[in-house]
This record gives sequence, C-alpha cells and structure tokens, in this order.
Amino acid sequence: MLQPQDIIRLEDEAVVVLDQTRLPAERVERRCTTVAELIEAIRVLAVRGAPALGVAGAMGIALAARSAPEHPLGMRQYLAEQGALLQAARPTAVNLAWGVAEALAELDRDVRGVQEARGRIAARARRIQDEEVARCRAMGRHGAALFGERPELMTQCNTGGLATGGYGTALGVVHALAERGADPHVYVPETRPLLQGARLTAYELAEAAIRHTLVTDNATGAILREGVVQGILVGADRIAANGDTANKIGTYNLAVLARHHDVPFYVVAPTSTIDPATPSGAAIPIEQRAAAEVTGFGGVVTAPAATGARNDAFDVTPAELVTAIVTEHGVLRAPYDLRGERPDG
Ligand code: MRU
Repeated sequence: MLQPQDIIRLEDEAVVVLDQTRLPAERVERRCTTVAELIEAIRVLAVRGAPALGVAGAMGIALAARSAPEHPLGMRQYLAEQGALLQAARPTAVNLAWGVAEALAELDRDVRGVQEARGRIAARARRIQDEEVARCRAMGRHGAALFGERPELMTQCNTGGLATGGYGTALGVVHALAERGADPHVYVPETRPLLQGARLTAYELAEAAIRHTLVTDNATGAILREGVVQGILVGADRIAANGDTANKIGTYNLAVLARHHDVPFYVVAPTSTIDPATPSGAAIPIEQRAAAEVTGFGGVVTAPAATGARNDAFDVTPAELVTAIVTEHGVLRAPYDLRGERPDG
C-alpha cells in the first residue's frame, strides 16, 4: 500500500505530491515550491480527493508562511490572502477550506513571533495528515463490520490512499475487509471524464492484490440488476448538515440505481468533510471543469470541433437515498442532523 509520505508530504522548501495525473503509467513526484505551483497541482488534479485536498491546503499555508512578512500582522494578512487563493482552487471539497482554516487557526494561539508561528503551522499541517489517516482507519473498521465474507461491492471514482493522504474512505473499508481476510471483490466504474476509477482505484486495488473488475460507467445498471452486489461504497467531497452528499459525478446515478435494486448505498467520509454551515445539498457549489475533458482524453479529441460539452465535476445525492453515513465516529442513519459532527481535537 502507498505510504502517506509517498502521496503528499511537507518538506522544508516544498510540498511534494505524487503526480496522480501520471498514474498508472508512471510514478513521478511533483515538487511545489510556491503556493502558485501548489494551486496549479490542485487544479490539474495532480493532488485530488477531498481529505488529500485538506492536507494540501494546510501544507500550502505552511509553505506560504516561509515567505510571509517577518511582522506578525503582515504575516497574518499575507497568509489570509494565500489561503483565499488556495481555497478557490477547487470549490466543492470542503476539506480544502477546512485544512486552510485549521492551519490559519494556529495564528490565533499564543504564538511568540513569526518564527514560532511558522513551526506551529508546519506541525499542524503534518498532524492533519496523520489525523486523516487515523480517521480513515476508524471508518474502515466501522464500515467493514457492515459486511460478511467475500462481499461483492461497487464504488465510484477514487477514494483510496491517493484521495486521502493515506488508507482511504470508501476504499479504506475495502482495505479493512481485506486485512480481516474477508476477500472482497469490487466493481470499479471507470469514472469519466478523467478516469479516476480506471487509473487510480484499479491501481490501488491491484497494488493491494484485492479482487476487482473494471466496468464502464454505463454498465453499472446492468450489473446491479444481476443482484450480486451487496453494497455500494462512495466517498464525499462535502456533506451538508441534512446528509445531502456531493461526490464525483455519477454518484447520484448509482444512488438511484441502488434504491431501485434494493442495494445498500453507503457514504464513507471523515467529519472533516461535513459542512455544518451548509444546510442542504442545494447550497453546495459544484465545480465546472473544462469542456475539453469531455470532448477528448489524453490529448486525443473524440468529438467534433464544433461540439460543446458540459462538465460538472460533482453531483449531489439527496440524503433520502443514503442508507448510512460512515464517519470515524461510527455508522449514522437517517434522519441525519450532522451539525455537531466535527473532527475531535
Ligand atoms: O475530482 P476528484 O478526483 O478530486 O474527486 C474525488 C472524489 O469525488 C472522491 O470520491 C471524494 O473526494 C471522496 S475521496 C476520499
């Protein structure tokens, strides 16, 4: 399994990420020595997935602190500006804003000078990664208890170590099942347009020697109708206070199919993905990405030049279609009131 420091780490002069745009063909690191470079890495999805974005946001503030003015007030203003830029890089995953806010909150503690602030922010950023991995392992335990031996599962997008900075949310449950010796099998939809399922989830499952089958996004209905899938496990980019869940485009389709075929539909996400300030899914901002991601792939154009495309990166699944939400605290069931569900500490 990929180790957390192989996925994203904070060095003295850089945030270093495993470039997920190059997987599975090659394992290449991308060194971001400025906040602008990190923002670009976030925009192109070199680092992606909600909890990993939270880690990246906090590490971005630590990077910014290195070049911040030497005066406390100047530093505070500069970091607030850099934080706003980082947050704007991707709007849907609330973890990004959360990670930035957690790092900035170090400035509100009793810090003696700029140098101490730099050290505390860096330590907080590294701790956020450790805490996310611990949350993932706890979710894995809670989620694995929902299934018996040799479960047939389906997922969406990539929710593994790559998406979280270590271990995974929905895929963390799969890892926990495998560690228990339950021998899970996972149907992995490709996840067009950027193929996080085919490129990343399949890569992680293959590395872990977990049984899996890649399917087109269009095949999921036919497979669910066969009646063998015992659960759909997805992650989340933002969960509103009422349980409405934004996740990778296509998640809503799976939730509707799951209801029709009477298959349990589980959202697996840490409390850092819960946004108590957003009452329902209607208020979740949905990232719109370039049409070119839909009209082609990997530099090959697949649609006529005159054809336009719409490219919502995420959709919202209403809480009524969610069988349960698995967080590090346990398995929550409807009716959801998540206003008090926050990370410990
Ligand atoms: O656009 P991406 O690849 O960042 O989207 C990622 C997802 O939608 C994941 O399912 C989500 O972040 C949960 S990951 C633990």
